[in-house]
Amino acid sequence: MFLFGTNLKMHQTPHQTRAFIHALRERLTAVPNAGQAALWIAPPYTSIEAAAEAAQGSPIMIGAQNMHWADEGAFTGEISPPMLKACGAEFVMLGHAERRTLFGETDDALNKKVLAAARHGLKIMLCVGEPSAVKEAGAGADYVAQQLKLDLRGFEAFDRLLVLYEPIWSVGAGGTPADPTYVSSAFDNIRCVLRHLCGAAGESVPLLYGGSVDAANCAQYARLAQAAGMGVGRAGWNVESFIAVLTNALAARQLHATKTT
Ligand code: PGA
Repeated sequence: MFLFGTNLKMHQTPHQTRAFIHALRERLTAVPNAGQAALWIAPPYTSIEAAAEAAQGSPIMIGAQNMHWADEGAFTGEISPPMLKACGAEFVMLGHAERRTLFGETDDALNKKVLAAARHGLKIMLCVGEPSAVKEAGAGADYVAQQLKLDLRGFEAFDRLLVLYEPIWSVGAGGTPADPTYVSSAFDNIRCVLRHLCGAAGESVPLLYGGSVDAANCAQYARLAQAAGMGVGRAGWNVESFIAVLTNALAARQLHATKTT
């Protein structure tokens, strides 16, 4: 299964998300090999319930973009794991580049969130990635290894973990899509750290790439042997574009599989 999806960031009302998912479901029927894709969407909190309803009976998994680690309490403006589950979220994205850079999310807080998500049976899409200065210094691998080690301290539910590698310099408007060979070595590094952290269970944690992925460049990432999927931001917020990226990614995967067998 190719794990393909979008983080809607701060876009779409519940009504718009419902319409988006209904339209996607309709268009999916015409995508070649759509059965090989497991889709995911992370809408804003306010759209999760509408999204979960609209996705019912489809291969689309709905998740949140963040959460607090406590079940409840005096944490104004925060949302807890049981609240997400009650709205129909199956997974939570944690440590997105924008949360780390714009909202000062620390590895310490992320560790608490990761453990809380595991405790509540949510799947965890842990986002890791280095800033550009770290890349320029050739220290990207160490930086990402440290994020993984700190964020996953005491974590054991590796069967519920996905890792989304999104170098900070590749995310959002003005971002540069990463070179696929760079992504490939980042994946090898992540796999190596996961193996070190949890032994054999680390082998099967799905690794995804994200950061300025679009219909024109997605094939080069989809063809990477280590890529279990990808995360799309801007190119995923419109039905036509979501379907175009998915179609091209699946076609590239298919072609690659045919060539290597
Ligand atoms: P982008 O966003 O595709 O717009 O660069 C990616 C992300 O934030 O997941």
